[in-house]
Amino acid sequence: MTAKDCFELLVSQIHTTVAATVDEEGLPVTCVIDLMYADENGLYFITSKDKDFCKRLKKKPYAAFSGCMGKDPLHSTAVSVRGKVEELGQDMLPKLFALNPYMDEICPDDKSKEALTVFRLYEGTGEWYDLTKKPVDRGSFVFGQKQQTETAAPAAQTGGYVVTENCIGCGTCADACPNGCITLDGGSAVIQQDECLQCGCCADACPVSAIEQQ
Ligand SMILES: Cc1cc2nc3c(=O)[nH]c(=O)nc-3n(C[C@H](O)[C@H](O)[C@H](O)COP(=O)(O)O)c2cc1C
Ligand code: SF4
Ligand code: SF4
Repeated sequence: MTAKDCFELLVSQIHTTVAATVDEEGLPVTCVIDLMYADENGLYFITSKDKDFCKRLKKKPYAAFSGCMGKDPLHSTAVSVRGKVEELGQDMLPKLFALNPYMDEICPDDKSKEALTVFRLYEGTGEWYDLTKKPVDRGSFVFGQKQQTETAAPAAQTGGYVVTENCIGCGTCADACPNGCITLDGGSAVIQQDECLQCGCCADACPVSAIEQQ
């Protein structure tokens, strides 16, 4: 999946997400926020100027969003994004209301709309985790300015596991891997990074501690 695919999933199918911000003491606060629209400039959402959520964003313009869809955990896909947000004001409200007609029931008149403001998540990183696929499909992406300065690969490997030269090729890790993403090649274990769940079972199982977390 690409960043565009993930944005599309977040807006059109998941839509209602859990949003994290930080309060004045730097402590995390979550609330439920609908993602109304996405384009090449980011993800758009609406809030009320009086809400604490809005105040937190104005003080520290960073947010993270997670959403998940599926009938049960093994048939679910999750997307998470995080990064910098900016307030756009009211210019995009008519477009966002037209795309999301249910908003007219929540804010039916001009007075209630006056209280609203639009924000955009315009730069950051994200990842998807698709448990509907076998093996599990997961990956990461960057968007906005960050896209030009960073490739997706380092983000994908953050927290990942690597086989070191201490490997003796015993195969214990391949047996322990729940996602079948370790093969033996030339007497050494090889982890398929794009399929790895980063569960750490291989590192726990290795008799010579040859697998390390990055
Ligand atoms: C399904 C659902 C969707 C919501 N979407 C939004 C939203 O898009 N924007 C918003 O400001 N509040 C939305 N809310 C309400 C917020 O979750 C709620 O006002 C928030 O938790 C208040 O947080 P605060 O007190 O930190 O400002 C939604 C609530 C529900 C149940
Ligand atoms: S971390 Fe888990 S999924 Fe990844 S290779 Fe090791 S055992 Fe397999
Ligand atoms: S369990 Fe350790 S030593 Fe054995 S193949 Fe895997 S990494 Fe190599």
